[in-house]
Formats: sequence, structure tokens, C-alpha cells
Amino acid sequence: MAGQVPVSLEYSYLLPDVEPEELASWQPAVTLMHERLEGGTGPGSAFLGWLDPAAIMPAEQLAAIQATAARLREATEVMVVVGIGGSYLGARAVIEALAAPGGPTVLYAGQTLSAEYTDWLLTYLKDKRFCINVVSKSGTTTEPAVAFRLLRDLLRRQAGAEANERIIATTDPDRGALRGVATKEGYQTFPIPANVGGRYSVFTAVGLLPIAYAGVDAAALLDGATACAAACRTPDLAKNPAYVYAAARNLLYRKGKSIELLATFEPRLHYLAEWWKQLYGESEGKRQMGIFPASVEFTTDLHSMGQWIQEGRRDIFETFVTIAGGQPAVMIPGDPDDADGLNFLAGKKSVDDVNRRACAGTILAHRQGGVPSMTITLPALAPRPLGALLYCFEKACGVSGYLLGVNPFDQPGVEQYKTNMFALMHKPGFETESAAVLAAVQERQGKHVVTF
Ligand code: PA5
Repeated sequence: MAGQVPVSLEYSYLLPDVEPEELASWQPAVTLMHERLEGGTGPGSAFLGWLDPAAIMPAEQLAAIQATAARLREATEVMVVVGIGGSYLGARAVIEALAAPGGPTVLYAGQTLSAEYTDWLLTYLKDKRFCINVVSKSGTTTEPAVAFRLLRDLLRRQAGAEANERIIATTDPDRGALRGVATKEGYQTFPIPANVGGRYSVFTAVGLLPIAYAGVDAAALLDGATACAAACRTPDLAKNPAYVYAAARNLLYRKGKSIELLATFEPRLHYLAEWWKQLYGESEGKRQMGIFPASVEFTTDLHSMGQWIQEGRRDIFETFVTIAGGQPAVMIPGDPDDADGLNFLAGKKSVDDVNRRACAGTILAHRQGGVPSMTITLPALAPRPLGALLYCFEKACGVSGYLLGVNPFDQPGVEQYKTNMFALMHKPGFETESAAVLAAVQERQGKHVVTF
């Protein structure tokens, strides 16, 4: 039985923009959205499988994922995860946050069409024993399809008959192009449940296979998510961190705060922010609405974006993700000259102590400058609390999207660039669009240019 995870959400620094009573007054709206989400009566209700992480990841499947990860770790030194958007960001967020240095390497492909990157990757892999986890629910997404062709060819040249044993396809259980290829070639496969969309799929095999390969405790991550799911099942706004977060950000949005910065003081959380941006950006940016999700990494960005955040347009709010403990004790050494004046810290304070003071000082400074914030604190950078955090953001996103009045489980706008790209490449089936798209590009491109 999963227990309570001590992750906290502090919202004291929303004051005076958001008073606790004002937040509490959103209870009826939150209850309504809670009922829509939990009862499956809201928009996008065919994609709510992620609500129950234990149900979408039964124990036998988790065991199979762990066994496959162990087999692949024996046979290879690198896993290449081929996928884009929700098909790789969750795994990357967890691996970059938690994988121990010196463990198996996980690299990524199909998240870009950059020839430079592709060429670098193929060159790097030439003398490596590698495996491929190709992840695509539809199986037809261009970026991973291009990368998979190239990587599969390289693997076949390197591993010959063994190549197919080193390819794992994570895809729709029944349909789609990748399912067809996997069946024909005899690849081992894991399912992406039909009722789970890409950006909500980190607790399926999409996330958990690469996470397990990287040596991160996938079971503990899932356990954290399950515990958080239980904690976030209450409609009571005062007790549900996901609903506090969802209601507060909608309140702030209505008060003109249209940009949210996810702020961390830990570079290992860089891809957590990338995952969060996709989750909220793709879920909420619809019908000319939505908070723009951006991210900053402090203290690094205090020396680049700090001025803007402190004194620029007051249309932003921040959500800090901080880590309470478990950081390495790197002590600040003494120096006989003390030219930098830091001897008062020598032998008494660690780098992490300084980072913490910087964090507390920044939250206060930004509040003083008119930027309200919330702070989510993990007890440590560890699988269980991280699993809880990821789930909390997912649950909050569902309710937040409903409060905003959009369907948080579709992404119709993503298709426009694909249509234009296919039309410009004269892909069969896009003949009608080709002429119009080409004409639209020709009408603009190169008209007004300044060279240097
Ligand atoms: O969240 C989403 O639905 C998207 O980001 C998809 O995951 C992404 O577009 C990749 O799609 P697919 O898994 O079909 O290749």
C-alpha cells in the first residue's frame, strides 16, 4: 500500500495578488471540474487512463519492463530513445534528474530533424553496442520515423541477425504503422494504452522502459505517483495540492498574469521543465487562450533573466520547484587571502546552503517586485517524490484545462505545420494542399530581407 509522500506546495507568496479566501471561493468550480474529470464526463474523456497509474501499469507489465531493461543493459551500453513530445520528454525528465553518473547511457533521437545532430549521433554510435526503443503511439510521426530508419539501418549493419532483439517498439496495442512493422519484424513491444495521450504517458512503458534501463527505480517512481493519485482524489480544494495549483494559476490568469515561469535551482531539473512546458502548453494553449509556460534555471538565469523578472512587465507568476535535502555536502573551503570575502562561510556552509539562501532570497525579491509565486518542495531528488510531482502536475493540468474551458487532452493545432511540411515535400495525399501552401510561402518568403 503506497503511503503519503511528503511533497509540499506553499502558496503564501501569492499574497496579496491572491487572498486565501478568494482561492477558497473557487471550491464550487473546482468540485464541478473534479466531477467531470473523475466521472469521465468532460471533454477528452476517452483519454483519462493516466488518472490511475496503478491501473495503466499492472505489476506483471512493470516486471516485464524491468526484465527487458536488465536484458538490454547486459547486451548494450547505450539505449537510443526514438520519439518526440510526450513520447520522450517524461523519460528524459526523470533520467536527467535521477540517473546516477557512470550508469548506462540513454540518448535521444527523433526529437529533431537536425542533420547536424543526426550525423553526430550516427557517428557516435558507430563503435557502440546500442539498442533502440522506438516510441510512437501513431507510428507515423515524421521526426521519429526518419530517425528510426537511419538507426535501424546502422544497427542492422552492426549487429546483423541480432539487431531485431535490440529493438523495442512502444506503441498502440492494436493499430498504427509501428505496430504493423513490429509484428512483421518480430520486435518485442510494449503498449501505450489507447486511453492515454502522449504527454500523460510517463507512467506507461513510454517512460518506464528507458527509465529502468538508465538504472532508475521505476517501481518507486510509480509508487510515488500512486500515492499522489490517492492524495489528489479529494475534491476538497484545501487538501488537494493539484487543485490548489490549478485554481491559483487560473485565478492569476484572470488577473492578467498570462505567463508562468517554472523556476528551479537545480540543472538536473532542466528536462522536468521541458516536460512541464509540453504538458501545459499542449493542453491549454487553445481557442486563443492559455497561460504561456516558460522556464528559468536559477541562479544561472538570475544573471540573464533576473532583471526582467524583477522589474519587467508585471504579467508573470512563478512556480518554484525546490529540493529540501539529500544534496551532496560540498563545503566551501577557506582561503588565507579572503579576497572574495567568503571566509565567513568557510568550513561552515556548503554550496547547497548558499543555493538555498539564494532561493529564499529570490522568492522574496520577486514577490517584492510584484511577481506572485508558489513553491513545490520535494524532500529529496529521488524516484518516489519525483513520481508524485509528475502525477500532481498531470492531475492539476486536467482540472486547470477544464477551469480554463478547453479540452486538455487534444492538440489539434499541432497538425498545421505537418500539413504545410507534407504539402511542401509533395507527400502523396497532399496534392490539394501543395499548390496553395507553395503559393502562400512564395507570396511572402524573401519579400523583405535585410542582409548582413
Ligand atoms: O502529447 C502528445 O500527444 C504529443 O506530444 C505526442 O506524444 C507526439 O506528438 C508524438 O506522437 P506519437 O507518439 O504519435 O509519435
